[in-house]
Amino acid sequence: MIEYENLFKANETFLKDYSEIFQKTLNSGWFILGKNVENFENEFAAYIGNKHCIGVASGLDALIFSLKVFEFKEGREVIVPSNTYIATILSILHCGLKPVLVEADIRTYNIDPFKIEEAITPKTKAVMVVHLYGKCCEMDPIISICKKYNLKLIEDCAQSHGAKYKNKMSGTFGDVNAFSFYPTKNLGALGDAGSVNTDDEKIATVLKSLRNYGSEKKYYNERVGYNSRLDEIQAGFLSVKLKRLDEINSHKRKLAAIYLKELQDDFIKPIIHPDFFDVWHIFNVRHPKRDDLKDYLLKKNIKTEIHYPIPPHKQKAMQVIIEGEFPISEEIHNTTLSLPISFFHTEDDIYKVVEVMNRF
Ligand SMILES: Cc1ncc(COP(=O)(O)O)c(C=O)c1O
Repeated sequence: MIEYENLFKANETFLKDYSEIFQKTLNSGWFILGKNVENFENEFAAYIGNKHCIGVASGLDALIFSLKVFEFKEGREVIVPSNTYIATILSILHCGLKPVLVEADIRTYNIDPFKIEEAITPKTKAVMVVHLYGKCCEMDPIISICKKYNLKLIEDCAQSHGAKYKNKMSGTFGDVNAFSFYPTKNLGALGDAGSVNTDDEKIATVLKSLRNYGSEKKYYNERVGYNSRLDEIQAGFLSVKLKRLDEINSHKRKLAAIYLKELQDDFIKPIIHPDFFDVWHIFNVRHPKRDDLKDYLLKKNIKTEIHYPIPPHKQKAMQVIIEGEFPISEEIHNTTLSLPISFFHTEDDIYKVVEVMNRF
């Protein structure tokens, strides 16, 4: 059986270091907002190239706080891709704002930068981009639009740790940038975790307060905050893994290169362009008989996943909230299939998947 993911196997090489940091944290007796969080925040800010990293409890919270800091009035609009994981859209709703969905570019699966401008209204306050599957969005035109209309730019980097556009790291383009460290991510913790990264000191101060009951000074509450702190133990694990994130990403790039070279052309493969340094959180192909292909592979002992089977605008929870038709997004959701590409997979595993797929 070639599994799609196995988090024990993907973490096996880190176990000794995890045990050491766990024991050290236990011995320290300091479990909330201590040295591990501070160290990880400094290390991750330096890795991405931000002045500040604020550790929070999840990627969803990171996105919510990325919007909260701007204190937009209720009902203001945020532009967001129609082709994303539901969390991006939920964060906008949780802030009392209106998500305005913009279709994806069918070649990149990311927001189509040339459809953003027509979605802008006098109520638009921000653009939230998502670097889906580990490929950056086409940032130049998006940045120009944000400047032209004076919109805040927020990056959802949940799937793009270490991905680059024109040699610049994802997480360095936006005013505020949100990361998830959900266990399956390229930089994944052993539980829920996230961070918000920014270069702006004032924003960083507000974010620190938001995650900690709205308090900048113990027992003094300046704003209506949350309890959403990055856990000391998870921060310790993340520091262990961050040291080898480049190795994780280059392993995934090596596996992706095999798929790209060896898979027959009747599978629609992700596009490759020198502007994009992809980190392959997900490697997908598209095929008109996606469900048959998935069943066929399972019968041959190869597990795959679908990211995602139902587009956000078709979710029950969004029924009365999201208006509009999004045929490109639906086409992606109906045809996409994610292939095995975890840190524990070997090149041989991938050659086996390719060999079976090419006989479909
Ligand atoms: C694109 C995207 N945004 C946001 C999130 C939310 O992250 P979390 O699961 O850590 O809350 C995820 C993760 O699952 C994601 O894939």
